[in-house]
Amino acid sequence: MAETFRATIRILRYNPDVDKKPHWAEYTVEVEPTDRVIDALHQIKWFQDGTLAVRRSCLHGVCGSDAMIINGRNALACKVLMKNAGTMVTVEPLRGFRVIKDLVVDMEPFFEKYRSIMPYFINNDPPPPRERYQSPEDRARFDDTTKCILCAACTTSCPSFWANPKYVGPSAIVQAHRFIFDSRDQAWEERLRILADRDGVWRCRSVFNCVEACPREINIKKAIAEVQQAILTGSRGF
Ligand code: SF4
Ligand code: FES
Repeated sequence: MAETFRATIRILRYNPDVDKKPHWAEYTVEVEPTDRVIDALHQIKWFQDGTLAVRRSCLHGVCGSDAMIINGRNALACKVLMKNAGTMVTVEPLRGFRVIKDLVVDMEPFFEKYRSIMPYFINNDPPPPRERYQSPEDRARFDDTTKCILCAACTTSCPSFWANPKYVGPSAIVQAHRFIFDSRDQAWEERLRILADRDGVWRCRSVFNCVEACPREINIKKAIAEVQQAILTGSRGF
C-alpha cells in the first residue's frame, strides 16, 4: 500500500440560507497519492462535516458533474490525483453560475444554451432500409466533438462568458459542431444561423482558456474556427 500523506483542503463554502457571503473553511485529510480530490471531499463530507454540498456521479470522468476550480484551475475532482494537487489544495465552485450551496452551482442557464443549438440529429428524409450511410472520412469530421461530457469547465473558464453571461459559450459551440459537421444532418444551416447571433460564436475573443480547461482534451479552438468558417462561407466543406 502506498504511503499516505496529510493534506489541507481549503473549500470556498457558501450557504445562501445562512451566510451573508462565501467564506473559506479548512479541513485536514489523510490520503493516498492515488486518491483523487473527490476522495478527499468524500472524506470531509462523510467523516467530518456532512453539511458540505458537492455534486458527483460516475467518479470516472464521464458524467461531467463534478467540475470545480481546483488550485485555481477548472477541473473534474474525480480526475485530479492528490499527489498532483499537493498538500494545500483550494477548491471553489465554478465561476459565473449562481451557487446553490458550496460546490454545487445552478447549471440551468448552461443547459438552456445547450438546448438552444438543437443538440440532436435532424434528418427528415424517410429512413433507409438499413442505415444512413456515412464514410469514415465524413465521420472523422466531428469525432473530436462527440467526446464532450457537458461539464461546463470550458464555458466557466472563459472571460467572454464572465463579461457577458448571454454568450452561448464554448461548450454549446462544441455541441453544435458535432451536428453541423455531421454529413447526414439537415439542420446545420439553422444551427449556423443561431450561432451567428450577437451572443453566438463571434463573442469568442480567442483567449482559449477553454482548451486548457477541457478534461476531454477536445480541440475547442479548432471547433470554434470551423464553425466561424462555415458561417462566413455558408458551407461545411463537404
Ligand atoms: Fe467539458 Fe470539454 Fe465539453 Fe467543455 S468541451 S463541456 S470542457 S467536455
Ligand atoms: Fe462524473 Fe467526475 S463524477 S465526471
